[in-house]
Amino acid sequence: MGKAVAILGSRNPAGQTARATDAVLEGLCAAGWEVRKEFLPTLRIERCRQCDERGWGDCRARGSCVIEDDFAALVEAIRNSDCVVFATPVYFGDLSESFRAFTDRLRRICRHENGRAGIEGKRALALCVAGGGGGGSPACAESLDRVLRTIGFDLVDVIPLRRQNLAFKLTILPQHGKWLAAGAPESWPGP
Ligand SMILES: Cc1cc2nc3c(=O)[nH]c(=O)nc-3n(C[C@H](O)[C@H](O)[C@H](O)COP(=O)(O)O)c2cc1C
Repeated sequence: MGKAVAILGSRNPAGQTARATDAVLEGLCAAGWEVRKEFLPTLRIERCRQCDERGWGDCRARGSCVIEDDFAALVEAIRNSDCVVFATPVYFGDLSESFRAFTDRLRRICRHENGRAGIEGKRALALCVAGGGGGGSPACAESLDRVLRTIGFDLVDVIPLRRQNLAFKLTILPQHGKWLAAGAPESWPGP
């Protein structure tokens, strides 16, 4: 059985983003997977410093980041997992700030082969939850798709959710988890 890490751009373990994530993890657990969750706003992850005057730094030269915070440990958690579930609340029709800070830096270290090691080609599933008026979820899904593919994940799905369809989608997200655990095959027997 595999190991999965879920990385959330919300700090609320009982919030809408966490509930959607838990539903996917439920499916992975049902398939015998070990799962863990990391809430980005509770970690110390600074924004990129754009170290040199050309905008690059150790990310490009070495595939690592000079900032000493929780970033490196979280990158290791990804490397040590068989797949990753990314989930962000929709803020202003886009990624949350903590999610952006993390993926901005991950995208940079993955420009170098050392940074890409253990990340490139790793299966990932992404969720975004518009919990207010419900707008901006498709636009946020587009941002997720772009940044996670640029990093190099094998992104098997990006699922937009909104407050108005959350209760319904919570009933099908465990199936997404089972599908992910099975390697996200193109053919699936269905319920
Ligand atoms: C700064 C900010 C911007 C937000 N922008 C949107 C938005 O564009 N569309 C929307 O439906 N909800 C928006 N919301 C509501 C969040 O999507 C909602 O709080 C979130 O999905 C639930 O977060 P939780 O998972 O932490 O409970 C916004 C919330 C905040 C704090």
